[in-house]
Amino acid sequence: MIIANWKCNGNKTMIKDWFISYLNKIKNNGIDVGTVGIAPPSIFFNEVFNQIKKNNLDILTCTQDIAGSSRKCTGAISSEMLQKIHAFSFCIVGHSERRTLYNEDNNIIQDKIFECLKSDINPILCVGETEEENKLGKTEEIIQDQLSILNNLDITDKTTIAYEPIWAIGTGKTPVPTKVNQIHKFIKDVVQSNSINQQKPKVLYGGSVTEKNAESFFRSEHVDGALIGGASLSGAIFAEIVNIKNEIKI
Ligand code: 13P
Repeated sequence: MIIANWKCNGNKTMIKDWFISYLNKIKNNGIDVGTVGIAPPSIFFNEVFNQIKKNNLDILTCTQDIAGSSRKCTGAISSEMLQKIHAFSFCIVGHSERRTLYNEDNNIIQDKIFECLKSDINPILCVGETEEENKLGKTEEIIQDQLSILNNLDITDKTTIAYEPIWAIGTGKTPVPTKVNQIHKFIKDVVQSNSINQQKPKVLYGGSVTEKNAESFFRSEHVDGALIGGASLSGAIFAEIVNIKNEIKI
């Protein structure tokens, strides 16, 4: 599973060019990877969706966020609206940028997870530690607290976790793949033992993933894919990463 998080980037020309270069590079329509998704800014849902249809691509559209249960929420997009469009399967929830810039805490994020689950939108819950927490050896403690959102929930088999160390996002720095693998196993064990239905989630790695380092992560047993920011803004590079996952097939 490989998801492009375009964050606050894109315009109509970029989207046209993105699909031309993706099509030029992608092998076999990326078909074996399982899920390939794009989370564009909501104002561009239509452009992206039309390109996917026009080119008959196996790409899902995702949202970068969702409103919580309150409808007194200027600027947000509700689960009902997303359901009406019928195009959304996945929604990124609790990205560290939203935790930091919009003060989203576990309560707010849990409310959003509920909105996703009740609407058949599969949440991608982001977790991860700061550099300081990492240096203090607190990574697992921080992640366990962030995952407590899912405690005693009946989560779906498509509920996904993205491990995104904050210090690796957009910095070019990454943890070593063995460490990522170890954290992913920890996440799977915690969620499996705490959710009502003992569901073991898929876990994606996010944070400075590029076509150069993707293979090292994809070869790790517990890494089920990637959530990609900067490198996903190029259709060619994103296709290259999808091709790498396809060739490894684990
Ligand atoms: P970068 O790939 O740019 O480091 O961003 C990762 C991310 O935040 C994806 O959600």
